[in-house]
Amino acid sequence: MSKEQLVRKIKEGTVLDHVEQGRALQVLQALNIDGKNGNIVTVAMNVSSKKLRKKDIIKIENRFLKPEETNRIALIAPRATVNLIRDYQVFEKRKVEIPDTFVNVFKCPNPTCISNSNEPVSYIIDAVRKNPPLLRCRYCGRLLSPNELI
Ligand code: CTP
Ligand code: ZN
Repeated sequence: MSKEQLVRKIKEGTVLDHVEQGRALQVLQALNIDGKNGNIVTVAMNVSSKKLRKKDIIKIENRFLKPEETNRIALIAPRATVNLIRDYQVFEKRKVEIPDTFVNVFKCPNPTCISNSNEPVSYIIDAVRKNPPLLRCRYCGRLLSPNELI
């Protein structure tokens, strides 16, 4: 079965392609996409690919995700390609980039961090270095590797 038969082309919206295998649900969570707005969201996991051995694909119909939104997934799916589609054609293709700050994307793994108390604060994680990525919790100052957050 070809890729086209497995997941059909969309008329309008955003396709997140080359998402690391098995990470699609984490990507949707980071984007706060839960399907409740009624638009079609198609998720394909563990699809064969030429570039990666296997990949996940997410198709979000009738929404054009902005770089500020898709950059939220830069640690989860660093090799993702963002394709914006109109009238069945890809009119913009871009990669994801690590933002200076992640707000409410990851919880701080430090159990004694104020952001994990009952205080109603946001989770704020700053990128202190982007290549290779190194992060730091704004509240407790703990240095964090991507593996501790994903
Ligand atoms: N796509 C889609 N609907 C369309 C057009 C494209 O769902 N109307 C999807 C394709 O299935 C693919 C992604 O958007 O998963 C990118 O499409 P395209 O640029 O045509 O594919 P490739 O050239 O293979 O992309 P890349 O070089 O980024 O791998
Ligand atoms: Zn912390």
